[in-house]
Amino acid sequence: MKRKVSVIGAGFVGTMTAQRIVEKNLADVVLLDIVEGLPQGKALDIMQSASVERFSSKITGSNDFADTGNSDIVVFTAGFARAPGMSREELALKNGGIVKSVVETVARHAPDCIIIMVTNPLDVMTHLAWKTSGFPAQRVMGMGGILDSSRYRAFLAEELNVSAGSIETMVLGSHGDSMVPVATHTNAGGIPVSRLIEKERLEAIIERTKNGGAEIVNLLKSGSAWHAPSSSVVAMVEAILGDSKRIFPVSAYLTGQYGIEDVHIGVPVKLGAAGIEEIYEIALSDKELEGLKQSAKTVSKTFAGLKIS
Ligand code: APR
Repeated sequence: MKRKVSVIGAGFVGTMTAQRIVEKNLADVVLLDIVEGLPQGKALDIMQSASVERFSSKITGSNDFADTGNSDIVVFTAGFARAPGMSREELALKNGGIVKSVVETVARHAPDCIIIMVTNPLDVMTHLAWKTSGFPAQRVMGMGGILDSSRYRAFLAEELNVSAGSIETMVLGSHGDSMVPVATHTNAGGIPVSRLIEKERLEAIIERTKNGGAEIVNLLKSGSAWHAPSSSVVAMVEAILGDSKRIFPVSAYLTGQYGIEDVHIGVPVKLGAAGIEEIYEIALSDKELEGLKQSAKTVSKTFAGLKIS
């Protein structure tokens, strides 16, 4: 049976996500946006690359949420990207209204879908999507940790002059500047990076990773990253549709794990056909655990500030 993924928001992240999904033949895609003509034009353009790229998945553009019906997965990228100098709280207020109304509508049309949130501030918007949809927690998740991990892996690989694929790491916590890289799970081909890179240099790389999104925003002047974010989303889509049971850091609803509850935050989870099939509680150093708790507090505070019931 053909699988179906809807992508809400035909901007930079949404369009690249849609393109990667069809090019990998993972599912048929509905690309949806509020702007008339935009998703249709982009879908048509991508569809016309099918014979060259050799994919058979279908892509259609739409402004009608009814077209998301029967989606296996709905990816949410609708909303604004962070502008230089904009605080997380300001962005949350701007995007909160959009996310709430869009999730409400999608939940009516695709009540059995799995939600992957991408709109920032990620963990806050994921929590909002979970509350708004009324879906079970295992079907609502946010893409943050894979992206933070892949940025960290890229910088470590550059430093060590090895392939990024040979770096393993686990970045937990809120997406962005309060992320928590777990030192015991960061290695190059099994060798702890702390044995390969001096402490100060490693700290500078971690700092750069935390500001990975902002570094790109500042370079672009307008808009934010979309290539690595869309890759990270598609890794999640692939794991769910393929029921692969891969373990990824994903923004998930915690109910006491790590001493944290009633918040979405990045933790290691098993992804499969049912969505989040397991949340792993791994051993952390005191500093890492404290970082994770602080990160969760920031998310809760920002969510409370939304004043959306
Ligand atoms: N319904 C559908 N689409 C909407 C709605 C809505 N209510 N509101 C806005 N959109 C669409 C916009 O028309 C736009 O095409 O969302 C799209 C957002 O695209 P971009 O502005 O290009 O933003 P992008 O770079 O894709 O980032 C989207 O993902 O990574 C995050 O921080 C990023 O929050 C941002 C989101």
